[in-house]
Amino acid sequence: MKNLIDHKLYNRENKKVGFSDDTLERIRKIILHYPDDRRKSVLLPVLHIAQEELGGYLSVDVMDYVASLLEIQPIEVYEVATFYSMFHLEPVGKYVIEVCQTGPCAICGGERILDHLEKVLGIKAGETTPDGLFTLKTVECLGACGTAPVMQVNTEFYESMTNEKIDRIIEDLKNKGNQQPTETRWAELF
Ligand code: FES
Repeated sequence: MKNLIDHKLYNRENKKVGFSDDTLERIRKIILHYPDDRRKSVLLPVLHIAQEELGGYLSVDVMDYVASLLEIQPIEVYEVATFYSMFHLEPVGKYVIEVCQTGPCAICGGERILDHLEKVLGIKAGETTPDGLFTLKTVECLGACGTAPVMQVNTEFYESMTNEKIDRIIEDLKNKGNQQPTETRWAELF
């Protein structure tokens, strides 16, 4: 395997794409947990780190960089990045709101929750508010069907949602404005 510390790539605009030396060292330690012939297994944690440290979403340049870093094919990265809803393929707002639309949540008011969010935020699912604060997405089962309807904002989970709860959450997030998020980031979990 290449020396990760030396590993930087240049994209089509000749801009450097790559992790900091500290992050590369962190990734090197994560890789040690996996057998050499199972390099692809380290893809999920590395993609989380890439998304959080290289611009908030996985551009083609970033996915190609990750493929090169892990010595796997770019298509193998694209397959994973496009499958999981927690990976963003284009820029998103500071707060990504994901509303579950799978059966149990749908039956318990998931659509109503989505309608209300679209009204409050003034955007449709798949869009980002002009101030860059919120992106609204629909996702499949978030694994908490017993407390449907549910939604997630970045890594924070919200259950038994009502319109009133949404109003409070949105108001709170707007008040936080451009402060740094205090919630756990996905990449910190690895
Ligand atoms: S259907 Fe929404 S959490 Fe499972």
